[in-house]
Amino acid sequence: MANIQESSRGGFSNKLGFVLAAAGSAVGLGNIWKFPFEVSDGGGGAFVVMYLAFCFMLCFPVMMAEIALGRKTNKNAVGAFAENGHKKWAPIGILAVLSGSLILSFYNVVAGWALGYAWEMFSGNFSVGQHFGEFVGNWHINMATSTAFMFVTIFIVAKGVSGGIEKASKILMPSLLFLILALMTYSLTQEGAMEGVKFYLIPDFSEITFETAYGAMGQAFFSLSLGMGALITYGSYVGKKDNMVSATSMILLADVGIAFIAGLMMFSFIFSQGLQGQGGGAGLIFTVLPGAFESIGPVLGRIIGGFFFVLLSFAALTSTVSLLEVPVSYVVDEFEVRRNRAVWIVGFVIFLFGIPSMLGNGTVDFFTNFVHYHGAEKAVNFMDFIEDLASDTFLPLGGFLVAVYTAYVWRGDKFKEEVEKGNPEFGNSLMGKYTIFALKFLAPLILGSITIVTILSKFF
Ligand code: PHE
Repeated sequence: MANIQESSRGGFSNKLGFVLAAAGSAVGLGNIWKFPFEVSDGGGGAFVVMYLAFCFMLCFPVMMAEIALGRKTNKNAVGAFAENGHKKWAPIGILAVLSGSLILSFYNVVAGWALGYAWEMFSGNFSVGQHFGEFVGNWHINMATSTAFMFVTIFIVAKGVSGGIEKASKILMPSLLFLILALMTYSLTQEGAMEGVKFYLIPDFSEITFETAYGAMGQAFFSLSLGMGALITYGSYVGKKDNMVSATSMILLADVGIAFIAGLMMFSFIFSQGLQGQGGGAGLIFTVLPGAFESIGPVLGRIIGGFFFVLLSFAALTSTVSLLEVPVSYVVDEFEVRRNRAVWIVGFVIFLFGIPSMLGNGTVDFFTNFVHYHGAEKAVNFMDFIEDLASDTFLPLGGFLVAVYTAYVWRGDKFKEEVEKGNPEFGNSLMGKYTIFALKFLAPLILGSITIVTILSKFF
């Protein structure tokens, strides 16, 4: 998938190729690492309900808009907005490039943790779960693993071994799904698991606040790779006759489905190990899962645990590739830099910007206690700050702008026309009517108001 820019503009050989690539971008650390700790911080079931509502009611229309925009314009994220005399809208694309770059900077660090954990599990070091703080505080190891990870990402995007990664993901992604399903089944048999399931599935609506809604919205956008142009770029490779509605539905269901199963597994394990209520944050899966693997048995636990983190790293790789693709295609198109050079330069700069995220876990105090939000008890570290800024704020803002742009600048009827190339019935269907209504009114209203209220209360 990576080297799409160099392949002929014919793009994906068929719709399945596009769906797999977009699902590869969507499924990643967001589903397995981020979703559980966001649910835990956001109060459990109520967060899950909001997350699902945002995915289906708001993200679906925005995803359709991004893919349609990409297919219509055949451009990178910035070019797509500037197309047809809309030059002054190009800054939306710049925001997208910035969000993608910021996200990749910390995503790569977490992917490095996953890689490190694969090694720890294969070596049978289950106790690393209780020493997560030391693990992430050891910057030598993190530097090594995240350098390795960025290197592989750069290599794939630069050399275009896209055929290889596509083939590999056809085997590895279903393997990850299978493994999570098996682990979920096992987790549900553990003592105390049902308490976890209740926390996860039974909403306590008093937990719904602007703050948790903002978290759920950011999570929905992050997990679906929306609001930063990845799907615009990928959308430019979808065949004109392809049915976009079914493609979008498949991507959405795959992504939400995997997050949902991973959450069920995680909360069963958390409660059966008595680890609930400890906050966990970005360390949640890394503190909980080693104990779960240990309980499987000394040998089998090592193997399963090791493979789990290998597969998770692979899922992260298909996401980092799509994250790097966005700034790279922008630099190649706008600054006329050779692709190979652009990949290395952009990848290196983003890697450097990830270093404070790496050092903010106890190594350097300045990055560890980076900002103190209004009314918060504790300071947050650099990584959490970038995550709040890029994924919870910029992505919904990007989604808001995509909706406004599609509905009012590009215009709803042109959007409809584009979708109808593969779905003649779209405009008359309930789904089509809803999608256009959502882009015109619902998405701008909800995304705009939640983002504004939260920014004001959090950062000022
Ligand atoms: N969706 C990816 C994940 O859940 C992360 C991502 C965000 C990838 C934005 C591309 C763009 O892990």
